[in-house]
Amino acid sequence: MKPVIAIYPGSFDPLTNGHLDLIERGSKIFDKLIISILRNSEKEPLFSIPERRAMIEEMTAQYSNVEVDTFDGLLVEYGVRKKATAVLRGIRAISDYEYELQMALMNRKLEPRLETVFMMPAETYSYLSSRLVREIARLGGSVKGLVPPLVEQNLRRKLEGDILVASGPRVTKRRRKK
Ligand code: PNS
Repeated sequence: MKPVIAIYPGSFDPLTNGHLDLIERGSKIFDKLIISILRNSEKEPLFSIPERRAMIEEMTAQYSNVEVDTFDGLLVEYGVRKKATAVLRGIRAISDYEYELQMALMNRKLEPRLETVFMMPAETYSYLSSRLVREIARLGGSVKGLVPPLVEQNLRRKLEGDILVASGPRVTKRRRKK
């Protein structure tokens, strides 16, 4: 049997404990799971691609079958290039379903060889999203327990005005010039 390679695409701005929960579940059922960060999102990101990549790499280093990559353009074309046969997406609540169904069916129309697999994160994370994490952090609220401690620390630094620099598997910081 050929190894089953799955893509877990997203913005991951930033990685939350809900994402990590899904990564752990996905790593158990797929032979290889590629966390793929979308490079050219229309959204104005909080963390740069190298910052997000470095944090995700550090937080998933314990999974030998998980790797981190970035992509641009159509997800299905990238998936085929990576020899993937599955796309992993998380569904937290019914409200996610309509958008996810539309995307999954469109991706299937574009590339029938790629199957979208939906998984549910632990119910503790059903209300959690990167957007809410960014908003809470910007407004000075606590994101403890919602994101890994490394992300929490980097959120604080980022919002204090430091520039985070990815160097190797770690994220280091440099003070923004005034
Ligand atoms: O974390 P997000 O923002 O919910 O992830 C959305 C993502 C990256 C999965 C989606 O925007 C995507 O696949 N973008 C790549 C461009 C593409 O293939 N668009 C057609 C989707 S049917």
